[in-house]
Amino acid sequence: MGPGPINADPRVLRAMAAPLVGQFDPWMTEAMNSTMELYRGVFDTTNEQTFLIDGTSRAGIEAALVSLLEPGDRVLVPVFGRFGHLLQEIAQRCGADVHTIEVPWGEVFEADAIEAAIRDVRPKVLAIVQGDTATTMCQPLADIGEVCRREGVLLYVDATASLGGNEFRTDAWGIDIATAGLQKCLGGPSGSAPITISPKAAEVINGRKHVEAGIRDAADAAVGARIASNYLDLAQVMDYWGPRRLNHHTEATSMLYAARECARLLVDEGMDNAVVRHELHGGAMLAGVRGLGLEVFGDVAHKMTNVVAVHIPAGIDGDGARASMLHDYGIEIGTSFGPLHGKVWRIGTMGYNARRDAVLVTLAALEQVLRAGGADITGGGGTAAALEFYADEFHEEVTA
Ligand SMILES: Cc1ncc(COP(=O)(O)O)c(C=O)c1O
Repeated sequence: MGPGPINADPRVLRAMAAPLVGQFDPWMTEAMNSTMELYRGVFDTTNEQTFLIDGTSRAGIEAALVSLLEPGDRVLVPVFGRFGHLLQEIAQRCGADVHTIEVPWGEVFEADAIEAAIRDVRPKVLAIVQGDTATTMCQPLADIGEVCRREGVLLYVDATASLGGNEFRTDAWGIDIATAGLQKCLGGPSGSAPITISPKAAEVINGRKHVEAGIRDAADAAVGARIASNYLDLAQVMDYWGPRRLNHHTEATSMLYAARECARLLVDEGMDNAVVRHELHGGAMLAGVRGLGLEVFGDVAHKMTNVVAVHIPAGIDGDGARASMLHDYGIEIGTSFGPLHGKVWRIGTMGYNARRDAVLVTLAALEQVLRAGGADITGGGGTAAALEFYADEFHEEVTA
């Protein structure tokens, strides 16, 4: 019950046990095509270029930024937590001219502040996180794409922690590239990074295509500045997943099975329903920790549905309590980074763990751990508040 990785859905684990086939086996190419189609549903896009990067979510981020950014290109990163700093750091490694704006942890940006910074910096790319797991905040994005379009800026979004549990509309919000990971709301293991790329971004990337010697043919004249990474070169990876099937890496077969099953589960459920499920169980967890008398960190109106940061009560040893949750109850809750380290725990309700039993058992265990540590909490208040939340007429309809 941490901020991810989470318990993978058993259906995903079963899918991973399927026999391996080579990447040019017709069955495998069909599996790749169906994975692309399923992730168009997950990202809510018609983008042809929608596929998987082999590697954890960070590989997806690096692929997007290294393929877009040439040395000296200006990029703007609004930072509202640890993962904004990660985008900044990766863009710097691409040799980009990186500009940042910041708000304190626990807050998000007003669209006007981002628009003003875009006008000021005039970047090629705006790179922003949707849900920063470090702070639990969810940046509203609906108005940002429109501004980017108007100002001729490409919009990259890291949706690792939020996709599947919070509304995400690639096309309607004008997002050029979005990337994610399986180990949060998608309900799988870490190790595969779904990505979607708009036709406009694909054109920019294909303007830097340098096909490797040995597989290149006469039509493959090198164009533009070569992308600095071979493995994460989206110009080549698009040709690998596309009709050309131009050889690149050896596809991570079992991870593809996992990613495909994650998407199947979500698309079958319906993306809007999956968001409602995360709202429901995340809402119950929020009500429950408050019912125990604990204080919640940050601007709750902008919290992701799937994770809550809870102030560690005075007198409680945060790491000791986490260890007790794990050893006595088999439940993992998360620690925190940077300025929040030692101050808050992060408790997730995402993917397969966005369930009523998981929420209620976690709250019951937390109460006992806090009671044993001498914290001043409301006895029975956690599960009672969560149950009340579930009993609300609207939410009963949702669970039915
Ligand atoms: C918002 C966000 N971006 C990026 C990452 C990095 O992901 P990974 O560890 O899968 O590479 C994480 C991991 O928690 C994350 O929450």
